[in-house]
Amino acid sequence: MTRSTVPEKDPPDMEQEQPVDEQRGPTGRPLPDLPDPPPVDRHGPAHVIAMCNQKGGVGKTTTTINLGAALTELGRKVLLVDFDPQGALSVGLGVNPHELELSVYNLLMEPSVTIDDIMLKTNLPGMHLLPSNIDLSAAEVQLVTEVAREQVLGRALAPVMDEYDLVLIDCQPSLGLLTVNALTASHGVLVPLECEFFALRGVALLVQTIEKVRERLNPRLEMEGILATMYDARTVHGREVLARVVEAFGDRVFHTVISRTVRFPETTVAGVPITVYDPSSAAAAAYRQLAKEVLAGCHAG
Ligand SMILES: Nc1ncnc2c1ncn2[C@@H]1O[C@H](COP(=O)(O)OP(=O)(O)O)[C@@H](O)[C@H]1O
Ligand SMILES: [Mg+2]
Repeated sequence: MTRSTVPEKDPPDMEQEQPVDEQRGPTGRPLPDLPDPPPVDRHGPAHVIAMCNQKGGVGKTTTTINLGAALTELGRKVLLVDFDPQGALSVGLGVNPHELELSVYNLLMEPSVTIDDIMLKTNLPGMHLLPSNIDLSAAEVQLVTEVAREQVLGRALAPVMDEYDLVLIDCQPSLGLLTVNALTASHGVLVPLECEFFALRGVALLVQTIEKVRERLNPRLEMEGILATMYDARTVHGREVLARVVEAFGDRVFHTVISRTVRFPETTVAGVPITVYDPSSAAAAAYRQLAKEVLAGCHAG
């Protein structure tokens, strides 16, 4: 008699529990149900994010290009700032850095040069670029004697803050004066971490630098989030490193995780974002998801 009632109730309950488990993302946390960000009918004021990690090859430039492109798909106007003398961001958008007559270097060092003088359009209508080349390495030295030397980039960007929804600054792999300028000009820091054995090495120093800048130069500065990149779900090692990153940073870690794929090096050669090069790829989808997380601001603090 009781048997006939119990089995009828149990299976639906179990069925409800299962999807919850499947909804766990690679970071092991339940995935949030992020709504599509509402369209904007006017632009600005810009939210400025520095892509920062003093380690090279962790995905700063790749994230700048592809997050920027994904944000434009959501109707946002985006300004990308190449703040690395290597000029990889410029190259990744099809610009030859050696042929630039004016670049971010001139914007920083010459009062007569304005943003409009150095601004380049990209192949995405909503995305503009401030390009750089090796000249910028001289700024690191020349700025040292400047008054308010940490605020030079922030002052240079100020005139266009109302024109863009987001400004993404691609930092060079160091914690020197250029990176401090980027942190001083920003509201948030996005830290890409490569899912490799030494991922967390040096992160303590980075966090210390961010805190110092917040205390001394830019009280509004927050951690935008930690982004796990070059993730390989097939290896125990990749999964372990990701688990350690989540253990160390908890809710600061973006739910979006960027997998390792040769599509990214290919896009650099093509000089376009992945969302254009291969719009239906998993990699493009990942950066679209990241764009939604950034607009939701759920990891900031
Ligand atoms: N998710 C990824 N999977 C595979 N290769 C990647 C990925 N992200 C970036 N890369 C490649 O790794 C190299 C370093 O990435 P990059 O974004 O330039 O790092 P950073 O700017 O931190 O030095 C580049 O050749 C890039 O194409
Ligand atoms: Mg780079």
